[in-house]
Formats: sequence, C-alpha cells, structure tokens
Amino acid sequence: MSYAESSLEQVKKLREKKDFLILAIESSCDETAAAVVRGREVLSNVISSQIEIHKRFGGVVPEIASRNHCLQIDSIVGEALDGAGITLSDVDCFAVTYGAGLLGALLVGVSYAKALSYAEGKPLVAVNHIKGHIVANYISNPELVPPYLALVVSGGHTEILYVKNDTEFEVMGETLDDAAGEAFDKVARVLGLPYPGGPEIEKIAKNGNPNLKIAKPYRDKLNFSYSGLKTAVINYVRNREARGESFEKADVAASFQRLATEMLVENVIKAAKFKKTNVISLAGGVGANGYLRETLKKEAEKKNIKVYLPEKKLCTDNAAMIGVRAYAEIMAGAEPAPLDLDADPSL
Ligand code: KG4
Ligand code: ZN
Repeated sequence: MSYAESSLEQVKKLREKKDFLILAIESSCDETAAAVVRGREVLSNVISSQIEIHKRFGGVVPEIASRNHCLQIDSIVGEALDGAGITLSDVDCFAVTYGAGLLGALLVGVSYAKALSYAEGKPLVAVNHIKGHIVANYISNPELVPPYLALVVSGGHTEILYVKNDTEFEVMGETLDDAAGEAFDKVARVLGLPYPGGPEIEKIAKNGNPNLKIAKPYRDKLNFSYSGLKTAVINYVRNREARGESFEKADVAASFQRLATEMLVENVIKAAKFKKTNVISLAGGVGANGYLRETLKKEAEKKNIKVYLPEKKLCTDNAAMIGVRAYAEIMAGAEPAPLDLDADPSL
C-alpha cells in the first residue's frame, strides 16, 4: 500500500476511534514548539522561544530563525514525547503548521514532520496557523463549540471571523494594512522598548495616562487600519520632539493600547450584533494583553455577550493549538497531507 493510501485508511480508522494521540509541530516564526494532544486534552506542550536571540536585531531575522529551528526541533520533539510519557511509536498521527509564516522557518517543521510521518508510517495533517490560534480556546474552554465570533489578533493577522463550524469561516472584518501585533511592536520600537513590543507596552502602560489626544484612524465597516493608528502615535511623538516638548513614554503606551483595544472591541461587538451571536472567542499573541482581555469582557458583558479567553500562554505561538486543530480537522473529515506537502508562507 502506498503512503497516501495507508494515510487515508489510518485517518478513517482514527475518526471512528475518536480517542488517539497526535504529535504536533509548530515552527512558523520564532518559536520552536512541539506538543502531544488527545482530542482537546494537552498531554505536553513544549516551547523554545528564540526571543533572546532576535532581540538585539529589534525583530525576527528569518535566516536566524530557520537555523535555530534546525538546532532545536529534535530535542523539543523529544521533550514533548517525554512530557506526555510516550514514545514515537505510540503516536497515531502527526500534525504540522504549513503556513502562514516565514518560509524557511515553516520548512523546518514541515520537512521534519514529513520525515517522521514517513518513517513511522503514520498519517500527517497540515494545519493553517491561524486556524490553530482560534482553537487554542478549546483547550482552556472545552465547552466552546461553533458557531461563534473569533477575534484573531497576532503579529501577522487581525481578523474578525464568524466560525460557523470547524470547517466554515466567514471573514467579517480584517486589517487593511498592518496587524495589531505589528503596530504594538513598531510603536514599542519608536519608544525605545525591546522586541517583542506587545508585552513591553503593556508593562509600561500600567503607569500611564491613556487619554492623550491621538485620533483613532479611519475605519471602513468592520475593517481596521493599524498602520493608521501606528502613524498617528508616531506623529504625536515626533511633533513633541520637534517642538522640544517632553512626554512620558508610559502615557503614549497607555493611549496607544487603549485606542488599539477600542478599535478591536467596538468592531467585534458590532459584528456580534450583526451575526446575532452572543459568543466571542479571543485568539492570537495580542490576546495575551490584559487590558484587551478585561476591556473586551467588560464591554461584551454589557451587551450580554459571553467572552472566551484562552490561557495567556496559549495565546502566543505553541504546538498544542496545532494538535487540537488537527484533531478537529480529522473529525470533520479532512484528508491527510500528501508527501509533497509544501510550506505556504502567505496561506
Ligand atoms: O500569535 P503570535 O505569538 O505570533 C504570530 O502568529 O504573529 O503573536 C505575536 C504578537 C507580537 O506582535 C507581540 O508583540 C504580540 O503578539 N503580543 C502582545 C502581547 N504578547 C504578545 N501584544 C500586546 N500585549 C501582550 N501582552
Ligand atoms: Zn501565531
């Protein structure tokens, strides 16, 4: 039997069995991650972050990221297996992020996962990174089921999605330019804060005045312009500097954070009204922001909308979410990946 035929057969059997082990790998950006999951249950979740390596460059350097994934992946997968108390031969199915992300970084995970799948004779499921972020919430809140609105805010994406079921998504609104996380990182850089900027902005914003007069950028329907917000904030800083006027970094950080949050919260609540749904689920790295989490909860509750928040450490990149997504896809009838699966940076 060929690899493809055997994979298809096995996936069908797993779908019937319902209870099986997935080893998932994620390497789309600067985190090398592996996890073992059983359905929505996480048996191990290992993340090796390269933040310290990229910090001195002020952002992720793609070539350096790929090289470090190569160095790390073997031991991270080993740790994930150990953490779950299993060996490679116990794994029923492999899962890997194949896009979106950095091409060289993605290729490390994809090649490694394909090699494992072929060598072990077990099927492989190819997972879209963003769909993985969305189901991170299933780990923290196993009772969450579609339909719901997903607010996805990461370093590469800012989207409001209507999740009809585990295979059908409708884009209700999205960024017209930069992602929200990108704006956090760029504003942080202007304020002289290290990479990644999101957590740094959140930290100093705690002691700042959030009400500086900075205009909210133009918005079109439920779409966002985070480049517009970033420019408004940078203009505020540059104008002050040009006039020789002082300003507090904490005030700029707090005001930016408030505006960035308000844009998200206003639009997702509008989308909820429009779709007549009373469930919102937060996802992505920016979803770890405490101010966003509290504001979204508070404002949504005023409208009787329930908000699901993933645990903070599941908001940023991890492989557990990739495994949980692979499980949902298998159960929804997805086919296994072919051996010529390629990375797709702009998926
Ligand atoms: O989802 P993620 O880990 O990677 C991508 O898929 O992009 O998101 C990374 C982004 C970065 O822009 C980072 O600055 C932002 O998430 N981020 C935060 C926080 N933690 C991470 N932004 C705001 N507040 C945070 N606490
Ligand atoms: Zn991500």
